[in-house]
Amino acid sequence: MHKLAVIPGDGIGPEVIAEGLRVLSWFGRQRGVEFELWQLDLGAERYLRDGTTFPAAVRDEIASSCAAVLLGALGDARVPGFEHARDILFGMRMGFDLYANVRPVRALSDGLVPLRNRSARDVDFVVFRENTEGIYAGIGGQLRRGSADEIAINEDVNTRMGVERIIRAAFSYARRTGRTRVVMSDKSNAMRHAHELWQRVFHEVRRDFSEIDASHLYIDTLCLELVRDPGQFQVIVTNNLFGDIVTDLGAALQGGLGVAASVSSNPDHPERVKLFEPVHGSAPSLVGLGTANPLATLLCVCLLFEEFGFGAAAQELEGAIRATVEAQDTTPDLGGSLGTRAVTDAVLARLSAGLSA
Ligand code: NAD
Ligand code: IPM
Ligand code: MN
Repeated sequence: MHKLAVIPGDGIGPEVIAEGLRVLSWFGRQRGVEFELWQLDLGAERYLRDGTTFPAAVRDEIASSCAAVLLGALGDARVPGFEHARDILFGMRMGFDLYANVRPVRALSDGLVPLRNRSARDVDFVVFRENTEGIYAGIGGQLRRGSADEIAINEDVNTRMGVERIIRAAFSYARRTGRTRVVMSDKSNAMRHAHELWQRVFHEVRRDFSEIDASHLYIDTLCLELVRDPGQFQVIVTNNLFGDIVTDLGAALQGGLGVAASVSSNPDHPERVKLFEPVHGSAPSLVGLGTANPLATLLCVCLLFEEFGFGAAAQELEGAIRATVEAQDTTPDLGGSLGTRAVTDAVLARLSAGLSA
């Protein structure tokens, strides 16, 4: 049985992960889709209690025995330096070399698309975000901190290997899934050293995928085009920072952060642990209200099922989520009036009744 490490984390993380576990449990009981769960007490509470962030023993155990990790969110005002979160989040993304952060941007229903004259059909693309380097590499420092002439530097790290493998992963995904267009986005007009590398590698790699329509957009123009005409996009590949930003924009196109899911993996090592996490954060203002949208986490469960060969379960769950959204059995962020738990109840009721959209 696949072992799944569960890290609820901070803020609304525990609230939404609890709902993901209820759905996992339903599929275990009703469909024999079973995962062995390993609950981990990691996050701000634990850090403030005993200083633990991401112990080496836990890291090694995840790497050696887990098929996947389900993470809620990290980030707590009591840890303003974000150090626990960096250790845990980057400890997995970078520590396990999960270089491909795949973030599907798909609207579940016409009513969720915020653009005039656009429907769910127009919002259906996948962002391949580089997940191990770029500005997130943590290279840099501060000098003369606190003085009038202080200096703060974060270096943008782009390796040939890192750039090539994410671009290749995006093209391979397009080929494998029958998609015909890949857009690479950078800022090579301003970042002439780092992103000239992206340009060169992109032009090399595209030659191996001649059937794919490969094009380039500067990141600013990509943002414009995503809002103007999202239907033109199928696969977008970009660096770590731009991928972070553009997937929040993507989340808005699909109905909000409450419905945006992601998976990080190393496509060169498919046997390696995979990390499933909603795109949203710990949403401090929602904590304890019982209104956090659980659907991003439930959609992570869909991705989990897909990744581990439970395609039928993934479709069934997605169908039930879709039907729930269509019926507006949703939390306030999607215009509904239900709470976190009631939304999951509505999904489970549709699963039990065999109703999906
Ligand atoms: P956020 O994603 O937590 O919230 C942004 C907005 O989206 C808020 O209005 C919030 O209420 C709303 N929102 C988010 N998730 C929602 C949900 N499930 N249902 C309904 N509404 C939802 O981003 P932020 O406010 O910029 O960051 C808060 C904290 O989370 C920070 O510490 C940040 O660093 C952290 N963060 C963590 C992750 C992660 O763990 N992967 C991702 C993003 C932000
Ligand atoms: C995300 C988040 C993280 C990121 C933060 C919390 C460091 O915004 O997963 O999208 O920038 O990757
Ligand atoms: Mn983000």
